[in-house]
Amino acid sequence: MAEVAVVGLSKRFGGVVALDDVTWTFANGRLTVLVGPSGCGKSTLLRLVAGLEEPTRGRVLFDGRDVTAVPAWERNAAMVFQSYALYPHMTVFANLAFPLQARRMDKGEIRRRVEHTARLLGIEALLARKPRQLSGGQMQRVALGRAMVREPLVYLMDEPLSNLDAQLRVEMRGEIKRLQRALGVTTIYVTHDQAEAMTMADTLLVMRGGRVEQAGDPEAIYRRPASAFVAGFIGSPMINLIQGRLDEAAAAFAVGAARIPLPDALRSAAARLGHRPLLLGVRPEDLVVSPAPQPEFLPARAVVREPLGKEALLLLAVDFLPPAALLRAIVPPDLRPGPDETVWLRFPPERLHLFDEATGAAVGWRE
Ligand SMILES: Nc1ncnc2c1ncn2[C@@H]1O[C@H](COP(=O)(O)OP(=O)(O)O)[C@@H](O)[C@H]1O
Ligand SMILES: [Mg+2]
Repeated sequence: MAEVAVVGLSKRFGGVVALDDVTWTFANGRLTVLVGPSGCGKSTLLRLVAGLEEPTRGRVLFDGRDVTAVPAWERNAAMVFQSYALYPHMTVFANLAFPLQARRMDKGEIRRRVEHTARLLGIEALLARKPRQLSGGQMQRVALGRAMVREPLVYLMDEPLSNLDAQLRVEMRGEIKRLQRALGVTTIYVTHDQAEAMTMADTLLVMRGGRVEQAGDPEAIYRRPASAFVAGFIGSPMINLIQGRLDEAAAAFAVGAARIPLPDALRSAAARLGHRPLLLGVRPEDLVVSPAPQPEFLPARAVVREPLGKEALLLLAVDFLPPAALLRAIVPPDLRPGPDETVWLRFPPERLHLFDEATGAAVGWRE
């Protein structure tokens, strides 16, 4: 186990800035997830920690020791990739034993470690099989096992579940989290899947364009996204983002003829900015939808209803937005407006988010 730190870490590939001055300490024994769209620098950061790439600038520290110049094989970091990269001609036992044999470990100790790891992963019955006799999920377990037997200082996992079907992914992400807890090994886990990131992370780093855009507790990031980008990336169905401004009285968000009341904290923060273009954010589950008119509710037209089982997603057209800009609302399953039927909307002030449209930065409500 080790605390892993990166300090002012940057990586350029020719003209491409893959990683741009990232400083972060990955807490000892915890699972930190790097999430962000494709190309934002997640794999690059992981490979720099592993020692598979050399930084253009900055340092990597394991427990305070500068390992920037230490080659990958001496860093004692175990990497798990999307492709399992098992040796096809070797049994599962031999695949697991291989990294230990390479270190000239005693045979009895190798057997002990391989059997212990196989037990943890529930693959004891597979030790005599070859990779082609395994399912995708079993292969991924063996690949994880091969990282675990080494008892490394840190696990580095780069989208290890991307090749699995949806149900198995959900199962394996719980499994990896359970194992990580049990072993208490510092783990950096990369995914582009925000649901996987939310469910697995002790700490979440949302990356964009080679930088960390927001970091912290996943639920705190969900509740208080620091930017419109983070608000849009974390959460599904996606948050509604509406272009508008603070109204003349600095009391409400103005979009077309509609006025959406804002809470005091957002009003005053927005007023301090001047009358800049703003984005109002409201999550689909926070919009209140009523089948009947109510005071202060705004009319909307139900365009599409997508049943999701325990709830439904409504796509709504409102007269203050262009016709193609539909709002997303999660509603109880018994709310079933017919096509083009009118429903009534409320934007609960305490649930609203506000962003400066030009910079994307959250307005107000920051700790
Ligand atoms: N070996 C490489 N040579 C050139 N460009 C690279 C190389 N590796 C990554 N990049 C570029 O660096 C950026 C970040 O890539 P990467 O870290 O793989 O992103 P992610 O893992 O978040 O999808 C991308 O623009 C990618 O094209
Ligand atoms: Mg990648």
